[in-house]
Amino acid sequence: MGDELGSGALDPAELGRHRRTVERFLLEYECAIDEVETKVRVLRRELSAIHSYNPIESFSSRLKSLDSLARKAQKRGLGSLPQIRESITDIAGVRVICSFTADVYRVRDMLCRQGDVHLVVEKDYIAHPKPNGYRSLHLILEIPVFLSTGPVTVPVEVQLRTIAMDFWASLEHKIHYKLAGEVPEDLRRRLVSAADTAAAMDTEMEALHHEMRQLKEVNRDGVDPIV
Ligand code: GTP
Ligand code: MG
Repeated sequence: MGDELGSGALDPAELGRHRRTVERFLLEYECAIDEVETKVRVLRRELSAIHSYNPIESFSSRLKSLDSLARKAQKRGLGSLPQIRESITDIAGVRVICSFTADVYRVRDMLCRQGDVHLVVEKDYIAHPKPNGYRSLHLILEIPVFLSTGPVTVPVEVQLRTIAMDFWASLEHKIHYKLAGEVPEDLRRRLVSAADTAAAMDTEMEALHHEMRQLKEVNRDGVDPIV
């Protein structure tokens, strides 16, 4: 592939001029998203069919837009596709929303155990929330994509979080976007407090779920039926 686009940092106009080369470059990331989505779909189908338990509420994916990629490349002073390939690991993104916090780690383990998946980076913002309250488990996975010319290894950013964490992150993102990052101190404090409330709800819902399952077990053994 003609990877050298220019000498200096990329700008959006330059990326636009090399659209075909860039589209070919991005295709690998699209295929990697397909691969990860298939893995998530298979886990979900198997777990609900065989174990009658579905830890995956939903999942979605996105390919970084050309504009956003160009901006990030420019900011980091990256001037060629190999440099971008090396440094920008969130071109392909998959977000998995789980029912409970324990499920986040279960799904992480199930993905990382697979022979063709290589965990490159893990950032645990659940164990260590960001100061603004943000919680999620971030993984950079490397996935092989089998093209006609042979296999390529492609990084995919996987974000795993609970419904409550996702609810918080969506609103926080909207607030930041609407206020162009100029969030007043009071609002910031309330967002941190809302994140703590969401985390407390996750803990309580998980405890309720655990108790429900225990009661179901007892019920099935005919020892202590629920009335
Ligand atoms: P980027 O260069 O922005 O991708 O960040 P990074 O390499 O420092 O990675 P990090 O793990 O901090 O964040 C990557 C992604 O996680 C972001 O693009 C968001 O999708 C999400 N994220 C991280 N922090 C926050 C946050 O405070 N609020 C929300 N709503 N999303 C966040
Ligand atoms: Mg990002």
